[in-house]
Amino acid sequence: MRTDEMKTLSIPKILAALTACVACSLVGLAQTSGAPAAQRVKEHPVPRIVEQDGRYALMVDGAPFLMLGAQSNNSSDWPGTLDKVWPAIEYLHANTLETPIYWEQFEPEPGRFDSTQVDLVLKEARAHHAHLVLLWFGTWKNGSQHYMPEWMKLKPEIYTHVTNKNGELVDSPSPFSQASLEADKRAFAALMKHLKEVDGERTVLMLQVENETGTWGAMRDYSPEAEKLFAGPVPAEVLKAMGKPAGATSWRDAFGAEADVNFHAWAVAKYVGEIAAAGKAVYPLPLYVNAALRDPFKGAPGTYEAGGPTDNVLPIWKAEAPAIDVLAPDIYLPETASYLKVLELYHRADNPLFVPETAGSPRTLARFLFSTLGLQAIGYSPFGLDYTRTPPAHQGDTDSPNSFLDATAQNYKLVGPMMRDVARLNFEGRLQATAEVESEPTQTLHFGDWDAVVSYGGGRSGTPKGNAEPIGRALVAQLKESQFLVTGYFCRVDFRPAGSEAQRKAGTVAFGTGQTPSALLEGKWVHRQFLKVEEGTYENGVFKFGRILNGDQTDWGLGLGAEPEVLRVSVGTY
Ligand code: DGJ
Repeated sequence: MRTDEMKTLSIPKILAALTACVACSLVGLAQTSGAPAAQRVKEHPVPRIVEQDGRYALMVDGAPFLMLGAQSNNSSDWPGTLDKVWPAIEYLHANTLETPIYWEQFEPEPGRFDSTQVDLVLKEARAHHAHLVLLWFGTWKNGSQHYMPEWMKLKPEIYTHVTNKNGELVDSPSPFSQASLEADKRAFAALMKHLKEVDGERTVLMLQVENETGTWGAMRDYSPEAEKLFAGPVPAEVLKAMGKPAGATSWRDAFGAEADVNFHAWAVAKYVGEIAAAGKAVYPLPLYVNAALRDPFKGAPGTYEAGGPTDNVLPIWKAEAPAIDVLAPDIYLPETASYLKVLELYHRADNPLFVPETAGSPRTLARFLFSTLGLQAIGYSPFGLDYTRTPPAHQGDTDSPNSFLDATAQNYKLVGPMMRDVARLNFEGRLQATAEVESEPTQTLHFGDWDAVVSYGGGRSGTPKGNAEPIGRALVAQLKESQFLVTGYFCRVDFRPAGSEAQRKAGTVAFGTGQTPSALLEGKWVHRQFLKVEEGTYENGVFKFGRILNGDQTDWGLGLGAEPEVLRVSVGTY
């Protein structure tokens, strides 16, 4: 407010204005203008993750929000490359860009912080109506210390590396370097302080602390200091978290062949936990750590990057890094069974599911967004989706310049406009979603008295035998007892009154017919009928009725093809 404007205001109005100004500076909104500060504070609370009955939601502007993200390539966050990022985000209909913040750029000299790139990406994100997840490339990046500032790299005797079993230094930072820890804490806290000051709009939803922490080429640090700790007692909280009895005299005694990797996970989690706590104390945004995975079926120690939150050490990470809200899997596994197993392993009562990175064959990969939503995910974000140099994961997709984006764009075009409803229905436990699995042409989702039967590759009316490639995906949410929201691609969805599991297995409940539990008691057979199938579109988060489908469009169930289609379906029995 200008002082000449203040002259014309009454005393109460001036007091209100001053209060607003104080609130404005308190929350660091000084750079934004327009609506009164108090209103802004109300409109833009700090994003947070909430839990209810074991289900999670990321609250943005006071309501559940689904991050439909894309992660840029590692070297894309520079003034000269961002113009190769935003067109991809737009093409994808993504609502969130995951982009790195490089420690070497942010702290070029000890204690001197350069926020120009943070400010630039914030400004550009706002101009593109996108949110950001910032990736703190700090002490660890893919197990190495490559993003440490040069002034640190030049002093490996202070900012130490992991020592392997043979006494050689490895290309990985030691979690026992107090100097590295203090430097990272200071830099990360400075980043959070800056965000708190400049991001009253809450463009940034969440931060990733480090990137794929841990070590390749050694299962742990074997330096003299580490050896001493390894020979000593295991901290009580680690034993408790891992369900081991108290009293083990050493790590080997407690964990046998898993001792080295568990020890490294403990050391890395403690280190990252301290950084996260330091940042969160300044500005309490949700924080997560991403994991380079081990094979969920045969991940023996020594075959994967040890130290990070791999599935076998999640309890250690939870115990040692409570300021981290989410332990998140980077999924690059080509096998369907492995992919789905990883989702299951990271969807825990104490951990919201979030996939911050994934890549694979773009057409078949896209269906996993739906598997992820079926496990109440708060977000999903394929890796490397920008127009800078194409990473190896996408080589071979040369048929069109956008072939690496198309299937994800198809997903986000459909789910984007309805993401608030999807996030809310998921948080309320009323949504199920699924993806096609090879050799499984039919899947059933259970909703109390109703089953939704999803089938693939049967055309409009034929027997389902699976699509030529597994690309089918479906989402069904129960709006009322007998009303459902239905969407997806390359599948057919139908409903039937729920029969007992035994009946289903015995095949006595046919497609589209069956017995409800209550009808079972009365010994009556009942059949499904569509009362109304409304086709519509989501506009500004609201379902807008378009037409009623009937006849060929519903007689064999609800066919969903390559076009984005949303249906509101009322069912009954006769
Ligand atoms: C996982 C890492 O977290 C990413 O930064 C990137 O290096 C990809 N792997 C591979 O391109």
